[in-house]
Amino acid sequence: RLRRLPLLLCSKSAAYVSPCPVKSFIWGPGLNPKIVLPARYFYVQTVDSLGHNFTSSPGENVFQVKIFAPGEQHSRIWVQVLDRKDGSFIVRYRMYASYQKLQIEVKVKDVHVAKSPYVLEGPVYHESCECPESRPSEWLRHMKCPKSIPQIQHDLQLFQTVDLDRIAKEIPSRFGQRQSLCHYVIKHNKVYLKTYGEHVGFHIFMDAILLSLIRKVKMPDVEFFVNLGDWPLEKRNPGKNLHPIFSWCGSNETRDIVMPTYDLTESVLETMGRVSLDMSRTAFWRGRDTPALDRLRFHTNFFFFKHDEQLYGPLVKQISFFDFFKYKYQLNIDGTVAAYRLPYLLASDSVVLKQDSIYYEHFYNDLRPWMHYIPLKSDLSDLLEKIQWAKENDEEAKKIAQNAQEFARSNLMGDHIFCYYFLLFQEYASLQVNEPKVRDGMEVVEQPKDDLFPCACPTEEELSVIRG
Ligand SMILES: *[C@@H]1O[C@H](CO)[C@@H](O)[C@H](O)[C@H]1NC(C)=O
Ligand SMILES: *[C@@H]1O[C@H](CO)[C@@H](O)[C@H](O)[C@H]1NC(C)=O
Repeated sequence: RLRRLPLLLCSKSAAYVSPCPVKSFIWGPGLNPKIVLPARYFYVQTVDSLGHNFTSSPGENVFQVKIFAPGEQHSRIWVQVLDRKDGSFIVRYRMYASYQKLQIEVKVKDVHVAKSPYVLEGPVYHESCECPESRPSEWLRHMKCPKSIPQIQHDLQLFQTVDLDRIAKEIPSRFGQRQSLCHYVIKHNKVYLKTYGEHVGFHIFMDAILLSLIRKVKMPDVEFFVNLGDWPLEKRNPGKNLHPIFSWCGSNETRDIVMPTYDLTESVLETMGRVSLDMSRTAFWRGRDTPALDRLRFHTNFFFFKHDEQLYGPLVKQISFFDFFKYKYQLNIDGTVAAYRLPYLLASDSVVLKQDSIYYEHFYNDLRPWMHYIPLKSDLSDLLEKIQWAKENDEEAKKIAQNAQEFARSNLMGDHIFCYYFLLFQEYASLQVNEPKVRDGMEVVEQPKDDLFPCACPTEEELSVIRG
């Protein structure tokens, strides 16, 4: 029975177009055991019997996905199959324990799709396992990280060298009183922290990404300051004793070194527990109004956490994440700083109209107007005109939306965010002229306890066997 099914399913004479398992594609980082992500993911593209890609959904439950550890009684793995409604699916899975081997099966009515079953030879680590790859170059290779990232080059070129003893004194005395700052040291792959200022709660996002990185890879010894506020801080001109400050938002009037925003970072670390780029069914929140747009009843939409309410004021009406993406045109307007929701808008199938702004996030400089978004003047005087253009040029608008989605897929997923952070710290570390030191008042930032499913790292001996 099984033997005849593929023919049946791929039959050219079928009266209706149905997915053809052997011709469909499966690809993505989730098939590589060495790419450890909080939520691993891969893609499935539905192809019909004639070899044509589906461009709309073949139906919600067409693919059955099973992920398990052969030989284990229980596999602690949570699987999610998301219909992207364009003929492709994203499959995400989160492992709660590490396994020696993992098997991934994707089927259509009992028939394996593409090269399914995929057998991942382990060890396959789960997110909270602390078995860092001791060779950063190997980790970078597995992760397929780029050699360099233009925004990182741009931000660091202003610093010939970084004198750690000097900035350890100067930055706290210059900003420590009025700003919320974190002073971090990573030494021998442990994280140490001292905070300055009153509102330092957001250091949890920075702690989380650093702890996640050191679980995965041996980080260089590095010492740096993170600005926990929304606004970039370094306003001095190049050459005037610039201080290197890592910030979530940059501007072309300041010299801060940008990192992925805490929101994007958090979405990477907590994928499947909340709204993420590939759109889970979670509620999202509306932020404060942007006064200039009140008349048009548009709002700046931030992805607030509940506890942000105290910081930013009460929330406006809550609307469902999916309702939000029903709109064909999406506005990205600066709120307090860069509107942190742009990654989600790009990943959606709406076309984005983006306000010109001096503020940017780590990936904005890779975006091109008319390719990834429709540009709007900073005073928004051309808003109606641009919406009119989009209405009259539906095909072009659609193409822009597709390019944006492709951009988000290839640049803003978990693996890309981990690459960005690692390369940023690696490049910065190479500018340090003295040894990072665990300074007075610093405390170690401990890994969360994961006693339920501890993992065993291979011994040096086992490693040398694995590596040949
Ligand atoms: C079909 O989809 C796959 C996966 O996205 C892609 O690589 C391929 O180029 C597509 N084929 C066509 C003809 O568009
Ligand atoms: C900064 O960005 C704004 C908005 O894009 C632009 O008008 C301005 O010319 C830029 N300034 C510099 C110095 O690049």
